[in-house]
Amino acid sequence: AQVVHADFVKSSVRPDDCPKDGRPEFALVGRSNVGKSSLLNSLVRRKRLALTSKKPGKTQCINHFIINDSWYLVDLPGYGYASAPQEARKDWDEFTRNYFLSRGNLVSVFLLIDASIPAKKIDLDYASWLGQNKVPMTLVFTKCDKRKKKKNGGKRPEENVESFQSLIREYFEAAPPWIMTSSVTNQGRDEILLHMSQLRNY
Ligand code: GTP
Ligand code: MG
Repeated sequence: AQVVHADFVKSSVRPDDCPKDGRPEFALVGRSNVGKSSLLNSLVRRKRLALTSKKPGKTQCINHFIINDSWYLVDLPGYGYASAPQEARKDWDEFTRNYFLSRGNLVSVFLLIDASIPAKKIDLDYASWLGQNKVPMTLVFTKCDKRKKKKNGGKRPEENVESFQSLIREYFEAAPPWIMTSSVTNQGRDEILLHMSQLRNY
């Protein structure tokens, strides 16, 4: 299940512009700054294949990366707060949701949730929207390396994950699969790659 080759393919701002070869793909989505681009880099063992930043709002397009010449990882813009104009954020939100609804070769969305802070309503709402629209989803908790901090609610990542899980169970009959990760320690990397290979059936 390991990544041998990874290459940037293209940036799109409309689902119609995305690659049309039908290879299976997995998309990373979540709040701005949750660590989508960092996780992609961790999965492919490259430092800067996907561009990351401390400032939320870095990724602004649908970015396709081809893995082992056979499947795609897709880095998406974040939702919620971003240091970008409201109009731009509205655009991103629209084309990302259209992408989810129209992309036939999308095997699963990986919804990233920051485990270093308490559960946020916007994430529960996003998960619920994906669920209502029957978009297959895997939950990925990020930043599990971070220590508890008073300003972040004073809880350990495990505790935040636990309370997110109990909240999400109110939205779903069957809770989505979930994985704990860190792009700093590479926790969860093999588990995600294995899960993706099982979902692709090879
Ligand atoms: P946008 O493209 O703006 O939506 O953000 P993103 O979700 O792609 O986040 P990005 O990967 O750019 O990371 C945002 C910030 O979080 C950066 O400063 C990263 O170094 C940091 N970060 C990402 N993942 C982790 C992690 O697992 N642990 C820690 N401690 N920091 C992380
Ligand atoms: Mg990004």
